[in-house]
This record gives sequence, C-alpha cells and structure tokens, in this order.
Amino acid sequence: MSARLLDGNALSAQIRSELQPGVAAFTARHGRPPGLGIVLVGDDPASQIYVRNKLKAASELGMRADLERLPVSATLDEVLAQVARLNASADHDGILVQDPLPETLGPHAARIVFDTIDPAKDVDGFHPVNVGRLVQKRPTLVPGTPLGVIALLERSNIPIAGARAVVIGRSDIVGKPMAMLLLHRDATVTICHSKTPDLAAIAATADILVAAVGRPGFVTPEFVKPGATVIDVGITSVTDAAVIARLFPEGHARREAFARRGSLVVGDVHPAVAAVAGALTPVPGGVGPLTVAMLLSNVLRAAEMVVGPA
Ligand code: GUN
Repeated sequence: MSARLLDGNALSAQIRSELQPGVAAFTARHGRPPGLGIVLVGDDPASQIYVRNKLKAASELGMRADLERLPVSATLDEVLAQVARLNASADHDGILVQDPLPETLGPHAARIVFDTIDPAKDVDGFHPVNVGRLVQKRPTLVPGTPLGVIALLERSNIPIAGARAVVIGRSDIVGKPMAMLLLHRDATVTICHSKTPDLAAIAATADILVAAVGRPGFVTPEFVKPGATVIDVGITSVTDAAVIARLFPEGHARREAFARRGSLVVGDVHPAVAAVAGALTPVPGGVGPLTVAMLLSNVLRAAEMVVGPA
C-alpha cells in the first residue's frame, strides 16, 4: 500500500485565500495594506528563490512586499541599519531577514540580526522574546515552517493529542519550535538529533515523524512505523548523481528529471518510505508552500497587533 500524499500546494492556496478578507479589511480600515519588508544579503541561489516566492505570494494577497538587497560584501552594521529602518517604518508590519547570512559577517551574525528585529514585527518568530513566549504557550509569532506542519496535520484530520511524535532535528527554526507546538497540542514528543543512539528505533515508535535534518533520503523505511504520518521538512538541491541513484531506481521519472537538469530538489525522507507510511508530505509540494502561507498569516497578525483593531 502507498501512503496518502498530503498536498501542501493545495492547502497553501486555501490558507492564502482565507487570509484575503482579513487583508482587504485591514487595508480598508487603515488606508494601507499590511506590509512585509525582506532583507536579503548576498546571492545564495536557494535564498533568492525562497525570497522571490515570499514576495510574490505577499503581493498576490494584496500586501505590500518590499525587498532590500545588500551585496555579499555588506557589513554587519549595514544589515543592522536596514533592520532599524524597517523597525521604524510605519508601512512595514513584518520583517524577515533571509537565513543564511554570508559567512563573511561572522559566526554570530544571524543571532545579532534576529535579536535586533522588533519582536512585534518578527514574522519569522526567531526573536528570543517570541521564542520564550512560544515555550510558555503565550500568544506570539511562531516560525512559519512548524506552524505550517501543524496546519497540514490538523486540516488532514491527523490526530495530534495523544500521539507519539518524534522530531528529527533540533534547529531553532524548525526542530525546537516544532516540538513545542506538538507538545502544546498534547502529543508526547521526543527530539532526536545527530548524536542520538538508536535513532531509527526511536523514530519507529512515532505516530507522527517529522524529519528536519537536511540530509537527502536520511529517513529510510526502518525509521517508520507502518501507517505513521511522515512529515518531510528537508529541502536539498542535489547535484551528485550518486545520491540520486541511491534514492530513485533507474527509469524513475525523477531520476530522468535529474539527468535533464543536473540537479533535483529532494527531501530527508527516502522514497521507499511511501510503501510503509500511512501519510506522507511530498518534496517539493509538501511543507514548503505552507511555510509561505504561514508567513503571510504572521504578517497579517503582526499588522493587526501593531495597529490594533478598528
Ligand atoms: N531560510 C530558510 N528558511 C527560512 C525561514 O523560515 N526564514 C528565514 N528568514 N530564512 C530562512
């Protein structure tokens, strides 16, 4: 039997259309649309695509969406100055600085920059004030990717309360907030990482398995309890033919797509898991589109919080 595929594109479109009346009402009430300011430093190819998708989705929803681009040679002070400008802007309710920042800015640059964003405009939910609020289950801005996973589970009628959930990955952006959101919905949560012994055996206890490690095909069928829901947060652009050969058999459509293009976007979950899981998110077209939808939801929430309801 093959797993039910959880369609992130369709759900993202639905969530974005549900946001439309709120955006229109805000615009009518305040004489301006909700505004998102994005700062992109350098020219990382994947980041450029992500940022383009975010700007396009915000504009399509009738939001203001501005991109501030800085060269890879920008200094930390120049990045911080852009954040300060957006913090003070009356037209921008949400601020997002695309991660990763260039390594030339130093090992702590992302932390310094995220700490500078006004927590009320922190639509990524990365500021320590918002992280603390999330841990204490207070209303706050929550990172879009784990929020999108919850939306996908809830709207696919996959029970969270009482479920055993295993999150593989302990990043600030996905793993930790994901675990908190599942915990707050009464799942019993285990966080695994690269130093976890017997990782596959622990993963195989999960009713809900979330993979967020950034290693193509890392989650193989032995990690998966039959019938479990498997959420694949990994997005890796693979250019190594040997990696593709491990994932897809000869003649597979995706292997042929790789041969034509020279690269392929793949997730953390091996395709063979589809024969074991009960439900599975595809890559691409699973969690990725939901991250964008939840970002826009956060921009509208931030706008309504800052200006206040009429
Ligand atoms: N890079 C990868 N994912 C994200 C995200 O959700 N927010 C930001 N700012 N950068 C990212």
